[in-house]
Amino acid sequence: MKDKIKSLEEKLAQAYVGGGEARIKKQHDQNKLTARERVEYFLDEGTFEEIGALVTHRTKEFGMDEKKIYGDGVVTGYGTVNGRLVYIFAQDFTVFGGSLSETHAEKICKVMELAVKIGAPLIGLNDSGGARIQEGVRSLGGYADIFYRNVQTSGVIPQISAIMGPCAGGAVYSPAMTDFTFMVDQTSYMFVTGPNVVKTVTNETVSSEELGGASTHSSKSGVAHRTSQNDVACLEDIKTLLSYLPQNNAQLPPQLTYKLEDEIREELKTIIPDNPNTPYDMHEVITGLIDGDSFFEIHKDFAPNIIVGFARIGGQSIGIVANQPMHLAGVLDVNSSKKGARFVRFCDCFNIPLLVLEDVPGFLPGTDQEWNGIIVNGAKLLYAFCEATVPRVTVITRKAYGGAYDVMNSKHIGADMNYAWPSAEIAVMGAKGAAEIIFKKEIKKADEPEAVWKEKEAQYAELFANPYSASERGFVDEIILPENTRRKLIKAFSMLHGKRAEQPKRKHGNIPL
Ligand code: HXC
Repeated sequence: MKDKIKSLEEKLAQAYVGGGEARIKKQHDQNKLTARERVEYFLDEGTFEEIGALVTHRTKEFGMDEKKIYGDGVVTGYGTVNGRLVYIFAQDFTVFGGSLSETHAEKICKVMELAVKIGAPLIGLNDSGGARIQEGVRSLGGYADIFYRNVQTSGVIPQISAIMGPCAGGAVYSPAMTDFTFMVDQTSYMFVTGPNVVKTVTNETVSSEELGGASTHSSKSGVAHRTSQNDVACLEDIKTLLSYLPQNNAQLPPQLTYKLEDEIREELKTIIPDNPNTPYDMHEVITGLIDGDSFFEIHKDFAPNIIVGFARIGGQSIGIVANQPMHLAGVLDVNSSKKGARFVRFCDCFNIPLLVLEDVPGFLPGTDQEWNGIIVNGAKLLYAFCEATVPRVTVITRKAYGGAYDVMNSKHIGADMNYAWPSAEIAVMGAKGAAEIIFKKEIKKADEPEAVWKEKEAQYAELFANPYSASERGFVDEIILPENTRRKLIKAFSMLHGKRAEQPKRKHGNIPL
């Protein structure tokens, strides 16, 4: 027995060093942790239970039968984060470049299946050279097995991906189908075809970083939801995200204990400028409404004209969708609509109530927007709100113009509580443009057209640049003072806690993709 135990210990010791000290050093020299170090750092101390440490590949070709490394390039298992169960896989770049073999894929699928059966989040730490080249189609099949499970799992448990090294070719599609993709700055990249192929096909010269690095995907493509400065910061970010989420779609998000106090926030009184065309930072409104510094922003550098992220209010996890007047006056455009829609749908999957802060002058005009499909993309956000059954509350801080009024969680599309500040302007459009259209002839004929225009603008503003017309019809439930808003929201979300709403039975809706 002693010998048998020794033999097991030796095999496990080999598994723990993966591709060996030299390759581990190379990983460290690149400012990257190894797969095992990442897993150990991420999980609560001593909680990691590994599954499949002694798995090896089955490939014989190209001398691979002589090259077997325990674990086969991926560390898989489960453990806890702040006491809550999670399943995890971490690709080990020190073993065949973390490339994905048939058995590597089987290990990932095993933890995916367990995660769904038990109902706990799945975290994937990606660091891989892609398909195991020596395996051919067996590797491609392994990817497809993972893709299929990503989709079956979507909306059942949270799936979170971190890109902590290369992620290229079709490999990018697994992270893309998970709920969130985190990237590490300078040490990770994602692209379908790398710089060499790009050069051959389009004659563009581009570096890996520029083509698919963290800052590209965080700001230009929107593929990455967050960028972190290094591996440790990335893992911390994922832990923070998990703190807002339920374990699965049958649970509610964690509710921290909270004792209601007076909740008056005087600072909210002075944020909205007197001139309705002067921008202000909607982050200040968010800070004034939420518990402490609980805002965890998603997609910060992509489509900054809309802000999305998680926060707590009265201890309750919520998702916030807010127009940002500091960027493009807070208009809805193609990218902000896609960003908002994806976030709303995530919150709805996982029972996270939604707070909408609205100051929107409409949709962005122009050929660029029309030709890039603002119609179908704007419809995504509209569709996402219409189908969301979680508690939904809106506060109109200033402009709610045109179709964007309907889209931004209006009462008409199923919002539960709609508030407006006295500064709200709920109208088809701004008073100046409205006066120009309705009184075109009078203005043209007048001796002093500018003065008549101004007078008509003032008339229109008097009638519609306020929240009262909407309030008279019940489209706004209450006009509230900014400083009382936090208290109102805590009470509204608490009142809506037990909301039950269902969509009609069908296979699935057909969101305009
Ligand atoms: C097998 C691989 C591998 C792969 C790397 N390695 N990628 N082994 N299959 N795909 C091995 C290397 O042979 C090397 O082994 C070790 O991993 C480290 O690789 P290096 O090249 O030394 O590392 P580095 O210089 O950091 O370069 C990293 C890299 C490069 C840029 C990722 O390795 C690379 O270009 N790899 C090939 C990428 C690729 O074309 N993959 C297929 C993409 S298509 P030793 O023993 O020397 O340590 C694809 C399709 C997916 O993935 C389809 C899904 C539907």
